[in-house]
Amino acid sequence: MIRLSKKGLLPLMCLSLLGFGMSKPSEESTYVIVTGGARGSLAPCGCTKPMTGGLKRMANMVRELKSRYNGAIWIDAGDITNAPGRQSELKVETYAQVMGELGVDVYAITPSERALGEGIILSMKSLAKGIPLDPTERDSVSVKGLKIAVDIPGLPHSEADIIISRDPNHRDLNATTIFPSGGAAQANGTLVSPGEALRGLVLLRFLGGELKESRAIPLEPRVADDAQATRAYNSYLNRLNAERLAEKVLRTDKGRFAGSSSCTKCHPTAAKVHFKSAHSHAIETLKSVKHDNDPDCISCHSVGFEAKGGYSPLQPKKFAEVGCESCHGASADHAAKPKQFKLQKVGEKKCLSCHTTRTSPAFNFVKNWTKIKHR
Ligand code: HEC
Ligand code: HEC
Ligand code: HEC
Ligand code: HEC
Repeated sequence: MIRLSKKGLLPLMCLSLLGFGMSKPSEESTYVIVTGGARGSLAPCGCTKPMTGGLKRMANMVRELKSRYNGAIWIDAGDITNAPGRQSELKVETYAQVMGELGVDVYAITPSERALGEGIILSMKSLAKGIPLDPTERDSVSVKGLKIAVDIPGLPHSEADIIISRDPNHRDLNATTIFPSGGAAQANGTLVSPGEALRGLVLLRFLGGELKESRAIPLEPRVADDAQATRAYNSYLNRLNAERLAEKVLRTDKGRFAGSSSCTKCHPTAAKVHFKSAHSHAIETLKSVKHDNDPDCISCHSVGFEAKGGYSPLQPKKFAEVGCESCHGASADHAAKPKQFKLQKVGEKKCLSCHTTRTSPAFNFVKNWTKIKHR
């Protein structure tokens, strides 16, 4: 058996074994690789295994496809981020750096990136090096006999539609449109778009300006991480730390937290169950994967990150878990005067705020509650 997850190398001949091989590279054909739709998730969080997607695998796959299909055109459909703020700026720069290092040909600038301001767009352009398409400036370009255009959808978080048609410059009725999220179509068949959170990419083969073949290629764990993209991603993590972004998160004044250990004396049974559970070391878990200073991760892995009284990276030992109060709510008042300050009932809905379809797809309330039941 050929191991594909070995660092660095994905043997070319394995492409077909993986189920995304196209017919043999053909001289006359033009191959197009479409990526996009990271939506703020440059790497799978790893909350559950296996998870598809991520910039590191994407880079490896693009590199392999470009070398297999010599001269393949790489188009990125944008929508790199999912929120305003400094962390998103760092994500855009990291993504653009990888596009530049691997040689993106054309990339869309979508409202997600625009929203971060002109400075970041400039930085993105200098890092990515390829041809930016943005309807406010230029919405199409001709590459290797194909006209590539973008349509930016009105929605704030969506990749660009990519329209590929025959040169010369007119909007071909037979154009292939790659729609964001959830499939694309044209006369020649249905395509699957790269989709949300970089979980895959799309490979197309054109002949004489017409789409002949298309494949959606999921970025599964067996696709190894690209070494160069890994370096870019690690320096992104270092920048999160260096800029202390987790300390700068905006927080509410609401919520007085007591900490799980203050509940023990009155609720020994609950405490016994709790401190044995995986919840009680959730920040430790983040630390082990070097994400303990990542604002994207801390909220679900700690107590009260949204409030000034909750977890803070400045005091990383306090509230460094999914604690009693992650479920029962801030309880300092209750711990002081339990009869006067009653807590609300908690149910499945609370669990689902962290155990989402992405982070915990196998979550089943009855089964999971049994594991941590404490009453
Ligand atoms: C929406 C809430 C949420 C966010 C955000 C989140 N996690 Fe998690 N994480 C979870 C949940 C829930 C689990 C437990 C999943 C399960 O066992 O079903 C988990 C488990 C994990 C685990 C343990 C997996 C294992 O094999 O035991 C790791 C590692 C992890 N998360 C890393 C991260 C990182 C890194 C980030 C940020 C990039 C992150 N998480 C962001 C909710 C979240
Ligand atoms: C604040 C976010 C959050 C809430 C709310 C939450 N969890 Fe979790 N849960 C996590 C995280 C994060 C982990 C992974 C911890 C780790 O491994 O470090 C986890 C892990 C677990 C595990 C261990 C997984 C395993 O199989 O070992 C169980 C069981 C669990 N949660 C059940 C529940 C139940 C039931 C609820 C609701 C009553 C709930 N959780 C509410 C974040 C949360
Ligand atoms: C000084 C003792 C004491 C401490 C400390 C304490 N509790 Fe309680 N708790 C009680 C008592 C007594 C009740 C029962 C109240 C009643 O039935 O009137 C209770 C009830 C509860 C309930 C059931 C809902 C309710 O309000 O009746 C929850 C949940 C709870 N406590 C959680 C916590 C958590 C979480 C902490 C730690 C932050 C905590 N308690 C700290 C004494 C305490
Ligand atoms: C993962 C979420 C979660 C965590 C963590 C958690 N609880 Fe609970 N707790 C629940 C749920 C769900 C119930 C059952 C529904 C209810 O009574 O609200 C419950 C029930 C209780 C009850 C019984 C309430 C009653 O009416 O009988 C007490 C007391 C309690 N928890 C205290 C604690 C204490 C103390 C801790 C920490 C040592 C803790 N819980 C940690 C989710 C959690």
